[in-house]
Amino acid sequence: MIFQIPDVLSADELSAIQTTLATAEFVDGKLTAGWYAKHVKQNQQLKGTDAKDLRERIQAALTRHPLFQAAVRPKQVHSLLLSRYNSGMEYGRHIDNALMGRQRSDVSFTVFLSDPQDYSGGELVIEGADDERRYKLAAGAAIVYPSSTLHRVDTVTAGTRLVAVGWVQSWIRDTAQREILFDLDTVRRSLYGQAGKTNEFDLLSKSLANLMRQWAE
Ligand code: NI
Repeated sequence: MIFQIPDVLSADELSAIQTTLATAEFVDGKLTAGWYAKHVKQNQQLKGTDAKDLRERIQAALTRHPLFQAAVRPKQVHSLLLSRYNSGMEYGRHIDNALMGRQRSDVSFTVFLSDPQDYSGGELVIEGADDERRYKLAAGAAIVYPSSTLHRVDTVTAGTRLVAVGWVQSWIRDTAQREILFDLDTVRRSLYGQAGKTNEFDLLSKSLANLMRQWAE
């Protein structure tokens, strides 16, 4: 399941982050790429104490978001990076590493930090079985997608693209199972809104909790 969260960062959070990034020091992104991804990764990453503070803020914003909680079921949000693509930079087709330190990547996300009109090109392109989806979202919005997909960032042809990228180890490692839980939970909440705590609501709650118990790891 690929989905967008339009409002991960508030306007205040976004402008504080943009102000910090405007004068921050970036280093070569190849430092955090795997052996073959080094050949296709051409971007820059934030370093130092600014990076730690911004990573924590963005991680907190995602973790508190109800849609992120319901659709991703995060056990651990990890490995956040703040990346900058100047004109001519890109990140060619790759698959994200399955393991990062002691954590697994089940879900990947990109939080867009630049206004789309401030750069040309630079779309995140996610490959499906026989199609491609292209994303260039408003500043402060996030795209969340399974880490099992091939994807790339097209060349930035003008301006600067700033993003935060990161990964999630989910309680539910399988994408299809996460989607089933998300759908059941959506129906359950809707039923509650329409009719309150009915017998149907209770049985659906029971099934949801017991599926979680079977699948969570
Ligand atoms: Ni990637």
